Amino acid sequence: MKTGILTTIVLAFISIGCNNDNNQKNSETAKQNESTQQTVPSNPKGYGRITEVKLGPIDPKMAHEGNEIFETKCMACHKLDERYVGPALRKVTERRTPEWIMNMILDSETMVEKDDTVKCLLQVYMLKMPNQHVDEKDARNVLEHLRTVATQSPEKNPSK
Ligand code: HEC
Repeated sequence: MKTGILTTIVLAFISIGCNNDNNQKNSETAKQNESTQQTVPSNPKGYGRITEVKLGPIDPKMAHEGNEIFETKCMACHKLDERYVGPALRKVTERRTPEWIMNMILDSETMVEKDDTVKCLLQVYMLKMPNQHVDEKDARNVLEHLRTVATQSPEKNPSK
């Protein structure tokens, strides 16, 4: 009987694990992680120097500059519509906050160390995203590029 209960608990624990894109929005999960792993609960803004990003309408010039950075520094590992070395990024602005994305770009080491969502991604992708040494302005431009591609359908850009 006891093992039955234990198994149930273990299974419940596994099922609240990573496989969940809404991790950061799920306070139940955050609480459970906190009590079992002694880590700071998932933070929707992530960890790092960016605490607030003010978004206006998409700025095409910034997006264009961001696209260039993206092509040189990100596409070795990321495609827009398919999993590659890292996750597909077309809709990343829909699943993460702007602050979280910028912290991931600027300080992936801290994010891998502290952020529960990134810890989960690491279990799937088995590689710590290296710091790409992008400055804050370029990271903001990349964010603008990612906001732009989220509005475009995959068909328009099949090769990416
Ligand atoms: C050497 C490979 C590599 C490069 C280069 C790289 N990444 Fe990543 N990226 C990853 C991996 C792997 C992950 C999954 C998290 C982890 O394991 O660290 C990731 C995760 C991410 C995430 C989170 C995705 C999600 O689903 O939440 C974002 C956003 C991201 N990368 C953006 C970028 C941007 C922008 C660049 C360029 C400035 C970049 N990455 C360059 C490998 C890379």
